[in-house]
Amino acid sequence: MQHAEITGWGKCLPPAVLSNDDLTTFMDTTDEWITSRTGIKERRICHCNFSDMAIVAAKRALAAADLDPAELDLILLGSLTNDSYCPNTASIVQDAIGATNAASIDINSACTGFLYGLHIGTNLIRTGAHKKVLVLGGEFISHYMNWSLRDVAVLFGDACGAVVIESSDQEVGLLAAKIGCDADAKYAIQITNLGSAYSRLSEEFLYIGWNFDGREVFKRAVKCMSLACADVLDQLGLSVDDISLVVPHQANKRILDALARRVGIAEEKVFVNVHKYGNTSAGTIPVALTEALEEDRIKPGDHVLFATFGAGLTWGAGIVRWGDRVNPLKQSDAELPPNDKTALEILEPHIKRYTARG
Ligand code: UT7
Repeated sequence: MQHAEITGWGKCLPPAVLSNDDLTTFMDTTDEWITSRTGIKERRICHCNFSDMAIVAAKRALAAADLDPAELDLILLGSLTNDSYCPNTASIVQDAIGATNAASIDINSACTGFLYGLHIGTNLIRTGAHKKVLVLGGEFISHYMNWSLRDVAVLFGDACGAVVIESSDQEVGLLAAKIGCDADAKYAIQITNLGSAYSRLSEEFLYIGWNFDGREVFKRAVKCMSLACADVLDQLGLSVDDISLVVPHQANKRILDALARRVGIAEEKVFVNVHKYGNTSAGTIPVALTEALEEDRIKPGDHVLFATFGAGLTWGAGIVRWGDRVNPLKQSDAELPPNDKTALEILEPHIKRYTARG
């Protein structure tokens, strides 16, 4: 039986930083409220297209794997904030990185897009249908934000991450996964006025709104992620003591603390970077995984536990057994287009548009 080893990893964070204090310049909020309720101190704001971030993350992951992009046979890109509906963003990435032999699919399951993609890609490698797959997750959520909604706007940021998975005889990679969806709560996170259901019926089309039941999402996130974690541990006959590191979806530090308590794992084993980037939706896990490797938090043979949830309400968990290599084979010099604006300057037209209407 073939497995799908993670052989490359990369991240792309846009350089413009939006701090909690920046938010207080146009919104009725405080650093104290955001920090105490979420743990978030700052987030990044993208100055270019989403695909630019995805292309940089992809090139960095390919360099880490030292893989010729022409050898990729599939690209799976998790995001809900694509450049365009048509063409899909995975195709834009395929063309830009020269992955001429890769089928290219966008996956929209919101924040869970990366783990959903890793699960699908891994199982396509297991069947022998594919051999070398690029899995991305990321978001340009600042562009789809309604900047008059303080209960949502403070939570999110922009980023993209990517991994390369390759067919391997070794029993490594994503060895167990459990994904699901609590669709009865699908309207607990809802972006309105975007999509044909709205364009058919509303003159408000593209005046984006968010319906967001934070407390309900919080409760479901902890419950669904902890059940999914128990499921994947059970699948492999492992206990929490066998897990070296948890790399969870980064939405709220309080959710991560509650998850650690429910799963029974020490907080020190939970990787946290939500204070730096906020919730980057499908980007959180591949970005956190890349940082965990950069910080030597993963050793050969380690079991790494992923846990995720998001709009839908989709959820999941997975256990990766790491292979022999924890260092990139090569470095890429790929960078985003230059930016000379502050985060507030980039956001100015959006903030004006939304705060003018309230
Ligand atoms: O990837 C999936 C995405 N979603 C999530 O992960 C969200 C999960 N939920 C959460 O993280 C939390 O529920 C929140 C951070 C969204 C909210 O935390 P909370 O402790 O559940 O706060 P709350 O909803 O109970 O709100 C309490 C108060 C309200 O005021 P009143 O009615 O008690 O006077 C809000 O109006 O906080 C107020 N509030 C704010 N105040 C200052 C809401 N947003 C803000 C804000 N600044 N930005």
